[in-house]
Amino acid sequence: MKCYLGIDIGTSGTKTLAIDVTGKVLAESVAEYPLYQPKPGWTEQDPEDWWRATIKTVRSVMRKAKLKPDAIKAIGLSGQMHGSVFLDRKNQVIRKALLWNDQRTTAECDQITTAAGGRKSLIKMVANPALTGFQAPKILWLRNREKRNYDKLAKVLLPKDDIRRRLTGEFITEVSDASGTLLLDVVKRRWSKRLLGKLELDESLLPTVVESDEVTGTLTAEAAKLLGLTTSCKVVGGAGDCAAGAVGNGIVRSGVLSTSIGTSGVMFVHSDEPQYDDSGRLHTFCHAVNGKWHMMGVNLTSGGSLQWWVDSVLQGLAGISQKNRYAAATKEASSVQAGSNGLVFLPYLNGERTPHADPKARGSFVGMNLTHTRGHMTRSVMEGITFALRDSLDIIQSLDVPVRQIRASGGGSKNPLWRQMQADIFGKKITTLEVEQGPAFGVALLAAVGDGAYRSIESACKATIKVADETPPNRSAVKQYNQLFPVYRDLYGQLRESMASLADYQASQI
Ligand code: XUL
Repeated sequence: MKCYLGIDIGTSGTKTLAIDVTGKVLAESVAEYPLYQPKPGWTEQDPEDWWRATIKTVRSVMRKAKLKPDAIKAIGLSGQMHGSVFLDRKNQVIRKALLWNDQRTTAECDQITTAAGGRKSLIKMVANPALTGFQAPKILWLRNREKRNYDKLAKVLLPKDDIRRRLTGEFITEVSDASGTLLLDVVKRRWSKRLLGKLELDESLLPTVVESDEVTGTLTAEAAKLLGLTTSCKVVGGAGDCAAGAVGNGIVRSGVLSTSIGTSGVMFVHSDEPQYDDSGRLHTFCHAVNGKWHMMGVNLTSGGSLQWWVDSVLQGLAGISQKNRYAAATKEASSVQAGSNGLVFLPYLNGERTPHADPKARGSFVGMNLTHTRGHMTRSVMEGITFALRDSLDIIQSLDVPVRQIRASGGGSKNPLWRQMQADIFGKKITTLEVEQGPAFGVALLAAVGDGAYRSIESACKATIKVADETPPNRSAVKQYNQLFPVYRDLYGQLRESMASLADYQASQI
């Protein structure tokens, strides 16, 4: 029996699953770990937690699926993008990793833009502008603010690639995740020597870059023993979680777009050639499909906003117990009409990336009146999150990128209210898959391709992914939302300065 593992190092936890060659999921397991927020806008995690969760979930999947160690022929790795694992010469982790939604590097982003000769010339080199979450500004932050740590630095890895190092002993990344460092020449799919030179960073700090379906090594004896697998098990490149999730949803050809609501919200579109948004609002990254690219818009606090609303505000109130909290909250929201009777929520609780690229953006409810209830507030949080995704969709469509089908995944696809809301806010039919899977499934497929079970990732997706359901937009709700969306879109500009003052005030309160 030939089986494959997909491991996804997420922000709230690590998810591992096993599939057989037909793509059938045999077992899955999740292990959670803490997120550290030492200051407002700072987010960190301990790479040791990721490693412990990897071992735990792999062992649990093997047990649940009753698989023999040699059944697993290859592993695919996925994970939260952009994070920085700083290693010294002895491969010891120097400090906690800075994450994708960390906002501390505004000064370093300016430094990179200036060193590159301006925003336009930076976009020419690496296809993207400098954004606070990306990895390169984190390296400069370490050099500028923690000199003693920087002096020890020998290698910087992305989260999933640190797991690869522990599994195989190899320092390797792949093109999709490497794109989010801001140091990759995305068009040529190799490190940008030009930008590295301008930033005075040595290329030896970075791992080797390969395509996502390439085999990057096999398990070391120590890793095989810890995981309960064999040393002939291969580890393939894998992908950053956005590209991996897209593969898991079959977004491997043009015209099909995906929305995914996890902690972050992602609107993702495949592209056969590198395509740009000149003003840098969308990211242009390499896809996990060999020789292809993608564009995406990313909202930093998407499902994270609903999680904040339900866990920090509603939980424990009448009718909202710990166990039923999401079902109870969304039930209240579904009894409220589309548009939440004019209550609008801006989901910028930890700054925003697409389209504003503003670490000081903050969340708000606008338009509250005496008729609004808890259900209106929950619904407007869900609508605000979906409006933020529509911002990305509108930019994608304004670039004449064909959008024939939108596939929903994550929290936004499981919940029928949210599926309908997406169809109504985007004004387009939403499709969902027979078996909805995320990044771990996508990289398990890449592992199967790397092992030779499929000729290409396109053929693996064709054989294993089936559309199950379609949710058409409801005309009258589309009308309501088309009336409210321009109001939502204008609010950021009108509130920007107040949001920045409040963010400064919040920072001064620590
Ligand atoms: C993508 C991004 C997030 C993280 C979340 O650019 O920052 O989607 O990858 O895991």
